[in-house]
Amino acid sequence: MAKFMKILTFLIFFFITCFLITPSTSSSNETDVLALLNFKAGIELDPLGALNSWNQTSHFCNWNGIQCGSIPPSIGNLTSLTHLYLGSSSLNGEIPESLAQLQSLVYLNIGENNLTGRIPHGLFNISTIITFAVHANKLQGEIPFNIGLKLPNLEGLYLGGNQLTGLIPASLSNASSLEHIVLLMNSFTGPMPNIGGLSHLQTFTIALNQIQDDISFITSLTNCTNLQLLEIGDNLLTGSLPNSIVNMSTYLSSMAISNTQIHGKIPFGIGNLVGLTRLSFQGNYLDGSVPPSIGELYNVREMDLGGNRFTNQIPSSFNNLTWLILLSLSRNNFSGSIQSLSNCTNLLDLDLSYNNFNGPIPPEIMSLSSISISLNLSYNSFVGSIPFEVGFLSSLTKLDLSNNRLSGFIPRSLSSCLSLQTLYLEANSLEGEIPGGLSALTGLQDLDLSRNNFFGPIPRFLSELRLEKLNLSHNRLQGEVPIMGIFRNRTLFSLDGNEELFSVFLIIFLYKQIMARKKSPTMPSLNGNQFLRLSYADLLKATDGFNETNLVGSGRYGSVYKGILDDETTLIAVKVLNLSIRGASKSFLAECNALRGIRHRNLLKILSVCESIDFRGNDFKALVYEFKENGSLDRWLYQKINLQLMTLACLHESLSHINVTPKYSTSYMVSIQGDVYSYGILLLEMFTKKRPTDEAFSDHINLHNYVSNALPDRVMEIVDPFIQTEHGMNSNKIKDCLASVLSIAVACSRTVPRNRISMKDVVIELHKIRDVLYR
Ligand SMILES: *[C@@H]1O[C@H](CO)[C@@H](O)[C@H](O)[C@H]1NC(C)=O
Ligand SMILES: *[C@@H]1O[C@H](CO)[C@@H](O)[C@H](O)[C@H]1NC(C)=O
Ligand SMILES: *[C@@H]1O[C@H](CO)[C@@H](O)[C@H](O)[C@H]1NC(C)=O
Ligand SMILES: *[C@@H]1O[C@H](CO)[C@@H](O)[C@H](O)[C@H]1NC(C)=O
Ligand SMILES: *[C@@H]1O[C@H](CO)[C@@H](O)[C@H](O)[C@H]1NC(C)=O
Ligand SMILES: *[C@@H]1O[C@H](CO)[C@@H](O)[C@H](O)[C@H]1NC(C)=O
Ligand SMILES: *[C@@H]1O[C@H](CO)[C@@H](O)[C@H](O)[C@H]1NC(C)=O
Ligand SMILES: *[C@@H]1O[C@H](CO)[C@@H](O)[C@H](O)[C@H]1NC(C)=O
Ligand SMILES: *[C@@H]1O[C@H](CO)[C@@H](O)[C@H](O)[C@H]1NC(C)=O
Ligand SMILES: *[C@@H]1O[C@H](CO)[C@@H](O)[C@H](O)[C@H]1NC(C)=O
Ligand SMILES: *[C@@H]1O[C@H](CO)[C@@H](O)[C@H](O)[C@H]1NC(C)=O
Ligand SMILES: *[C@@H]1O[C@H](CO)[C@@H](O)[C@H](O)[C@H]1NC(C)=O
Repeated sequence: MAKFMKILTFLIFFFITCFLITPSTSSSNETDVLALLNFKAGIELDPLGALNSWNQTSHFCNWNGIQCGSIPPSIGNLTSLTHLYLGSSSLNGEIPESLAQLQSLVYLNIGENNLTGRIPHGLFNISTIITFAVHANKLQGEIPFNIGLKLPNLEGLYLGGNQLTGLIPASLSNASSLEHIVLLMNSFTGPMPNIGGLSHLQTFTIALNQIQDDISFITSLTNCTNLQLLEIGDNLLTGSLPNSIVNMSTYLSSMAISNTQIHGKIPFGIGNLVGLTRLSFQGNYLDGSVPPSIGELYNVREMDLGGNRFTNQIPSSFNNLTWLILLSLSRNNFSGSIQSLSNCTNLLDLDLSYNNFNGPIPPEIMSLSSISISLNLSYNSFVGSIPFEVGFLSSLTKLDLSNNRLSGFIPRSLSSCLSLQTLYLEANSLEGEIPGGLSALTGLQDLDLSRNNFFGPIPRFLSELRLEKLNLSHNRLQGEVPIMGIFRNRTLFSLDGNEELFSVFLIIFLYKQIMARKKSPTMPSLNGNQFLRLSYADLLKATDGFNETNLVGSGRYGSVYKGILDDETTLIAVKVLNLSIRGASKSFLAECNALRGIRHRNLLKILSVCESIDFRGNDFKALVYEFKENGSLDRWLYQKINLQLMTLACLHESLSHINVTPKYSTSYMVSIQGDVYSYGILLLEMFTKKRPTDEAFSDHINLHNYVSNALPDRVMEIVDPFIQTEHGMNSNKIKDCLASVLSIAVACSRTVPRNRISMKDVVIELHKIRDVLYR
């Protein structure tokens, strides 16, 4: 942010110089332009010949930035010249002393060149000068102490961006017409003289010098009632920020006092400065609370309070600052919630890093889709999971949530942040697999997920992204390290501290792989005598080659087929995991673990688990349940629900059954909560036979809205036509049940996680529906 502000200072500096100095009249016509071209070509040889063709009364010379040597001393012969504009012309060398002969000069602009040496003191003898601009060169030396007396008509003094030294002349206060004093980016020293008498002063910039003074000098500026721009930072200023700043001009548009040694509090009445569009107190020793009146600065676009010692909550009046574009509060001791920033819907850059902000990250902050430069919440004490709403940050380039206390999974919606180049989530307690959805972030260059609890394999897509830096260290990742892309260069990535994976786990994993391939197709590794022994071939046969007509339903992680075993009596439901979906493999392991030994009275019985290689040599994983068919649709519906429900309920149940370490239980718990959403979507898909990606859906209408809008009366219009025609039961009953199931689905798939129904309530509701259906 500090760097950004510096760039901004430069930009503003050039804005002033370009905008205010550019002369309003121009005498150039075709002949003049020709003369200029000749002038350029012949500048060293015969400048006068060319110059003679000019109208010597009024000259604006623009060489369009073409390198054309130094200023010819002969210009000094044009004694009736009133306007000399040689700005932005890549001129080098020294300013010729002869320019002092231009005794009629009112406008001098030789800024933005490469001029060296001293400013000829004779120039300060031209009393007619109104605009004196030599900014953005490499000029050295001091300014005459009596400048204000010698140039009594001076309105604009532009010396910024040189290497000038010495004191700021007190005599400036005698040039009573002065409107613009631009001295920034030089090496001026000493105290700041009193210029409070300059009643026309609009611009006062002395930033980036070595001025040594007590900040109290700015009290005198309260008399400059036209002041608009005040930049005094990056100097050796001390003392406490005077309350008198609240009495500065209400025209004051930009106030920047950054990187000094001042202390004290922001005056309570800061809200008086209603003209402010930019306020920077960055990098000082200010402390205390930010006064609520800051909310009255309704016009403020940029605010940088970073790098101070501010404490307490940020005032709720920030809600008023809807025009903020850049906001930095970083490196302070702020605490509490950041909810009051949720009205700042025009932010491009938000930096709250290095504070003590706590509580969950408000979804509203994550919904500030205007933020496109950077969202930095790092080094705080945020808890809870990353809000689903992160997906609204579709223009965001850099997201830094690192070094907080965030937990849970990376939300799938993160894959909507398609502009991301930098993603820092390190040093939290995030878990789960690295989501496959991140493969959509094709612009990602720098990814840091280190020091979390991520497990599972290193996804292959990481080797396909154009990453320049990758840190996955200190997690619990397992499996093979990809060899392509970034993984080719050992210096660009870190995987340290994933010990589980690279020692014991790797060996087990490889052993399993080898055994699986040797015995392909093979029996489930999770067996035990209570399970039927079913191979891939058995399942293939039972489901008629996984025939579409046997498809019962499909969900995020795979498809469920009905089938019949060789004995011709045992009906089965086979859940085939889609292993190309990230997380499916984990879901499988989790289910296996959960189902180990469980016989819940309300759940279908698990018959077998098949972990094998299919006939094309791909990994194949399936769960086989008993299937109780009686031919009627209601059963089908119930079975479908039940199959999915079981997956989740089993996980829930498993917590009390599986002998795992506590950290595993936590991750399962979170997975249940996270999966409520997937479960809801799955139900919606199943009953409407529409995909969330259906082209009928747009920005405003998605699968969730589509269904919720139709409930309860128009439910039959949106459900799968197959259900509408093929049912064999009382149609009102079916309709009511469908409406109930779909309201559960809607309640599961609400955008805001905390508005979602709990899995426990889902189970209760589904049981109620089942009871109605079978009554
Ligand atoms: C341009 O300037 C030349 C010489 O000063 C003059 O003769 C000519 O009429 C001017 N042309 C126009 C279009 O003003
Ligand atoms: C030069 O310009 C001035 C003002 O623009 C004009 O009054 C004067 O007649 C011009 N002289 C010549 C020789 O073109
Ligand atoms: C113009 O100025 C140069 C150097 O400043 C000088 O040598 C020359 O004599 C002058 N020419 C005229 C015509 O005044
Ligand atoms: C400015 O001048 C220096 C030497 O004084 C030279 O090295 C540099 O290239 C020049 N820069 C431009 C932009 O002309
Ligand atoms: C400035 O003008 C004064 C008299 O008005 C003169 O004494 C002095 O030498 C001049 N300085 C320069 C550098 O031309
Ligand atoms: C210049 O300004 C100072 C301070 O405002 C004042 O004391 C002094 O008399 C002024 N000098 C002239 C010559 O006006
Ligand atoms: C402001 O100007 C008034 C009148 O010129 C003067 O009395 C007062 O001291 C000035 N205040 C400051 C803070 O310079
Ligand atoms: C601001 O100006 C008012 C009116 O001149 C004055 O009463 C008040 O004391 C000033 N406040 C500060 C903090 O200087
Ligand atoms: C919000 O801004 C308006 C307009 O500047 C102001 O009148 C109002 O007092 C401000 N509200 C707060 C809470 O600061
Ligand atoms: C947010 O901004 C809107 C529009 O300016 C305003 O109506 C609303 O009151 C603000 N919200 C809060 C909490 O201040
Ligand atoms: C690895 O990356 C570093 C840093 O970008 C680079 O200097 C080095 O040449 C690369 N090594 C190879 C083998 O590409
Ligand atoms: C699926 O089963 C139907 C009906 O038994 C049959 O007509 C169809 O050919 C089968 N499809 C495949 C791909 O085996």
